Amino acid sequence: MLILGIETSCDDSAAAVVDECGLVHGEAVANQFEQHRPFGGVVPEIASRQHLEALPPVIDACLDKAGVSLDDLDGVAVTIGPGLMGSLLVGVEIASGLAWMENLALYGVHHVAAHLFAPFLKGKETSRVNDIRFPYMGLCASGGHTGLYRVDGPGRIIGLGETRDDAAGEAFDKVSKLLGLGYPGGPAIEKAAENGDPGAVTLPRALRGDGSLEFSFSGLKTAAVQHVKAKGIPSGQALSDLCASFQAAVIEPLVEKSIAAAKRHRIPSIALTGGVAANRSLRDRMSKRAAEEGLELIVPQAMWCTDNGAMVAFEAALGIASGARAVERIEPRATWPLPR
Ligand code: KG4
Ligand code: ZN
Repeated sequence: MLILGIETSCDDSAAAVVDECGLVHGEAVANQFEQHRPFGGVVPEIASRQHLEALPPVIDACLDKAGVSLDDLDGVAVTIGPGLMGSLLVGVEIASGLAWMENLALYGVHHVAAHLFAPFLKGKETSRVNDIRFPYMGLCASGGHTGLYRVDGPGRIIGLGETRDDAAGEAFDKVSKLLGLGYPGGPAIEKAAENGDPGAVTLPRALRGDGSLEFSFSGLKTAAVQHVKAKGIPSGQALSDLCASFQAAVIEPLVEKSIAAAKRHRIPSIALTGGVAANRSLRDRMSKRAAEEGLELIVPQAMWCTDNGAMVAFEAALGIASGARAVERIEPRATWPLPR
């Protein structure tokens, strides 16, 4: 089974051809960092116009790399939400047009569900492969979403706690903008934090110790703003120390709540997903804590942490294998909570 996956929920125009085993036959992605960088974050209007230009050639490139034509496909899957409405619309309209034109089955995919299956994607040269075993505890930490999910199977995902305000990646992006480090903020702060002392600046950890599986990062962001107001924008070692302290304050609740959720639900493995999962310190900390608690940690390859078409195609392929039906028409949904 070969599925074309299309992703445009935020600022990446991405497409991939994937089979039901998670093997990525070909993929392409166009990011919009240059267009959004002057604004320090994603501008929705610019994002949708960029998708309109970028997506058709991205789909062509991905089919080329996979060495297939539209005739060889068994279906088209597209992210229908949650995300930016204008961005989602472009992907949904192009996917629907392709499916109609080529008489292909059409599938709508939940963006967070797609992230949660990314650890099981593999490339032709992938040496180490993660085997899917349900249930697992999934942490999705990205620019638009942060939450913990119990994954019982395709289409069987239960939300256990999400962020009450900012997503983890959003916090990275906003603090990076504050410090003049640019967009996207995650990789910029990670780099600036390299030689910093994570204990140098005391920053708050919200919702700690009350057993809550929810997250909150807006207080942390405000604390960073206050720090800069009091001391000015730091440079040199002080900048590294602030970045390292901020990074540690984001990572700690992500790690500790994932561990607590897995233990509470007696689930033996944790999947670390979403753009923030590309962060080396988060991966290292989660790996250390999981090992201490006797839990298995599953992480996607770095390129499948941030938004991509492969995870969208694979979520649909897994769904089809367990009975999901194609649809005639799909509507984008800016908000779409997973069942709780
Ligand atoms: O999953 P994703 O590509 O898009 C959404 O679904 O939102 O995640 C993008 C987010 C951005 O906020 C970006 O700053 C963050 O992931 N990110 C990182 C790193 N790489 C990307 N955050 C921390 N460390 C990184 N290395
Ligand atoms: Zn995402």
